[in-house]
Amino acid sequence: MQIKKFDEWAGAFPDKCFEREVDLSIVLGSGWGEALEMDEVISRVAYSDIPGFGEATVQGHAGEFILYRRGNKRVAAWCGRRHFYEGVEWEKVVFPVEMSRRMGAKNILLTNAAGGINPALKAGDFVIIRDHLNFMFDNPLIGPHNPEWGARFPDMSEVYTRRLSEILRAGVNRLGFRALDGVYAALTGPGYETPAEIKAYGRLGADVVGMSTVPEAIFAHAIGMNVAGLSLVSNLAAGITNAPLSHREVIEASEQAKPRMRALIEDFLDRL
Ligand code: HPA
Repeated sequence: MQIKKFDEWAGAFPDKCFEREVDLSIVLGSGWGEALEMDEVISRVAYSDIPGFGEATVQGHAGEFILYRRGNKRVAAWCGRRHFYEGVEWEKVVFPVEMSRRMGAKNILLTNAAGGINPALKAGDFVIIRDHLNFMFDNPLIGPHNPEWGARFPDMSEVYTRRLSEILRAGVNRLGFRALDGVYAALTGPGYETPAEIKAYGRLGADVVGMSTVPEAIFAHAIGMNVAGLSLVSNLAAGITNAPLSHREVIEASEQAKPRMRALIEDFLDRL
């Protein structure tokens, strides 16, 4: 990846975004966009105003950065992300992570909507991501090595920081939500999986599937951030039920779950 691109995009953010360390950065996936309670908006930047970056192209992804204050915490929220299946460069996919690093964020919460494979899961459940399977078979760290980003061969034995997962777990328990600690399998998409694929991924240890999060998690962990991953199960994966899959269903499930998502993010921020 090219540092030059990040330098250009960073120029679109006002200086006040960099003047104090961000306590938490949150990447909000499909439908998660409005799950925030803000005391004070410090800055907003539309992705479409970042030269050469472009808008988030998927319905359910707002395409906006919001820096806000909640209590005494400073939070960077990335409402919408770019995906591998859009055919864009890795720089665009991991852009929220690199900008968060430049804003001094030590913690990042990556959210997404995912398909449930584990038979214990129902639509509307949460999954606290404990590990992942990278079935994208590509990696944002491939390419020239930038020493600012840490080791050439970063350890991946604990991508999702245990302490942050425990904070999510405590929140889920306090709020009485259903959540599994699970393994997220990342696929390129954009087609959903076949039933045979889902069966295979399940046997290989996947609890949920989706088309995001893993590249950002790899990069964020490699560059030294504490990473938390949280999926909302928006549907049961292909073949788990007989129903065909649609993006509308994904959006509707996250719409219904919005109050719970909001409560969980609030609780996470309070305990951080
Ligand atoms: N498969 C892949 N990605 C997804 C799914 C799914 O079933 N649901 C939401 N994102």
